[in-house]
Amino acid sequence: MIAGVNFNTCIFNTSGPADVTLQELEVVGRSKSSAITMKSCTLKPREGNPEPRYADLEFGSINSMGLPNLGYKAYIKFSKILKKKYKKPVIASISGMTLKDNLVIFKAFNDSPVDLIEFNPGSPNTIGKPIVGYDVDAMDKLLDAVSKVCKKPFGVKLPAYLDLVHFEKIANVIKKYPVKFVTCINSIGNGLVIDPNKEKPLIKPKGGLGGIGGRYIKFTALANVRKFYELFHDKIQVIGVGGIYSGIDVFEFILAGASAVQIGTAFLQKGPRIFDNVQNELKKFMEKKKYYNIQDFRGKLKYLN
Ligand code: SIN
Repeated sequence: MIAGVNFNTCIFNTSGPADVTLQELEVVGRSKSSAITMKSCTLKPREGNPEPRYADLEFGSINSMGLPNLGYKAYIKFSKILKKKYKKPVIASISGMTLKDNLVIFKAFNDSPVDLIEFNPGSPNTIGKPIVGYDVDAMDKLLDAVSKVCKKPFGVKLPAYLDLVHFEKIANVIKKYPVKFVTCINSIGNGLVIDPNKEKPLIKPKGGLGGIGGRYIKFTALANVRKFYELFHDKIQVIGVGGIYSGIDVFEFILAGASAVQIGTAFLQKGPRIFDNVQNELKKFMEKKKYYNIQDFRGKLKYLN
């Protein structure tokens, strides 16, 4: 259960490069993903950054997609089709370029059948825009405005925080508003991957800088889940994302306090079977440990004495 909405399992797709078109979203609909999260949308359709803008790496990925999407109106239309066809929650992801854009989009989704909204206020890849999650005042203003217009349960996708002081600052802002969940973490912004033979970066935008995803970021994602779980005292749910490839990865995120997890890079690399595989592995591992429900161990990370 996320924000009062029932999910069949705690595992579903993250908003990402494979959730842009209706065809791609139908792949998620047919898969064992327990929800369909749509690509972060903006007011107008966007082509995104110049290619190449995504590369698979040995332990994950780098991307600087630049929010290519079909514009919010398309995702309102898709949500109606997806809700009718697949009996699972549909999640809109909103990433307006300005406060005004965000308000128009949030209002429009009020009259759509989406179950939840994930507000993604700060992609690391939008050229010329800062990562909003690192600006406490900007987050405060955005959440204040969005809370006044949004009638759906909504959460916020956050960047990775590394300093304990920053966790507290952002948690204090989020707690002021009716935010139901946070999603930790977006790709870690502005990494640089270099091909030493060509002496060039792997992707073109921003001189090669892009968000790092996959196994490289799992430990940072786990720490962010844990810190927000503690700071919110379980009153605001935490969804974990970052480097989930196996059922044991999911187990670790739940143990750290996540109520659910999303899969991004591994879905791109392994296809929709990843959802079955990870679910089956989690079930087996839980059986071995004699856990029957994720609530039996959620948040119960033990400490070293
Ligand atoms: C992108 O489209 O650049 C990725 C979106 C995000 O990182 O939030």
